[in-house]
Amino acid sequence: MGIATSTLNLAQSKLHVAAPYLIEQTWANYTPEQHAIWAELVSRRMPQLREHACREYLDGFHQIGLREDKLPNLSEVSALLQPRTGWQSTPVSGFLPAAAFFEMLAARMFPTTTWLRGRDSLEYTPEPDIFHDVFGHVPMHAHPVFGDFLQHYGQICAGLMHDPVALERMGRVFWFTVEFGVIRQEGRLKVYGSGLISSHGECTRVLAGGAEIRDFDVEKVMNQEFDTGAMQPVLYAVESFEQIYEATKLAESRLG
Ligand SMILES: [Fe+2]
Repeated sequence: MGIATSTLNLAQSKLHVAAPYLIEQTWANYTPEQHAIWAELVSRRMPQLREHACREYLDGFHQIGLREDKLPNLSEVSALLQPRTGWQSTPVSGFLPAAAFFEMLAARMFPTTTWLRGRDSLEYTPEPDIFHDVFGHVPMHAHPVFGDFLQHYGQICAGLMHDPVALERMGRVFWFTVEFGVIRQEGRLKVYGSGLISSHGECTRVLAGGAEIRDFDVEKVMNQEFDTGAMQPVLYAVESFEQIYEATKLAESRLG
């Protein structure tokens, strides 16, 4: 209790607009049934991901100590993640307003939901849950270049709150990298976006050729509209994570 409270207070002291959304994750309150749902979700995804996820995701999964049979304890995840890249997986109460979300990314705190979907929605939830947030997102934050990219992205967007058009254009960069990004490695298409990592149906469709894969071009990405409720007809493939970090800096200069 004392340690958890001081972690929460410390995080709150570093934030302004996001501070009211921070909570504690009471890991002991997860039920055996919830751990069993987590285990089932992981076991449904891992065979495909071992073959088709990028190597940085698979390395990160082990580096941050994720387990296949138990829900993650976020303070334990952060204790392994923070020494690598400065990132933490920080529990929040739910959906965050944009300014709070960007403030947390800029501070290398990934806003992480603590609720878990039920057995009736194993494939899809409209709102992110702990499976989408931790299994889908957080392993990539163990990679230094990806971690730097995401922090810089948050910093840029936090400075654009007065400019909804620029924010929408930057939102497309997030969507086609962090959420639905693919990368070419050793001549093959690999997935790294959380929406593909955490969704068996969408990932299977993309790997089977169900989406048009275009070369990543930040100007085109910033102009590419998307529908959050539909399968993605077009995705953008990068050649390296340095490419998205550099592209984000280029996007920043074009917005200015
Ligand atoms: Fe996400």
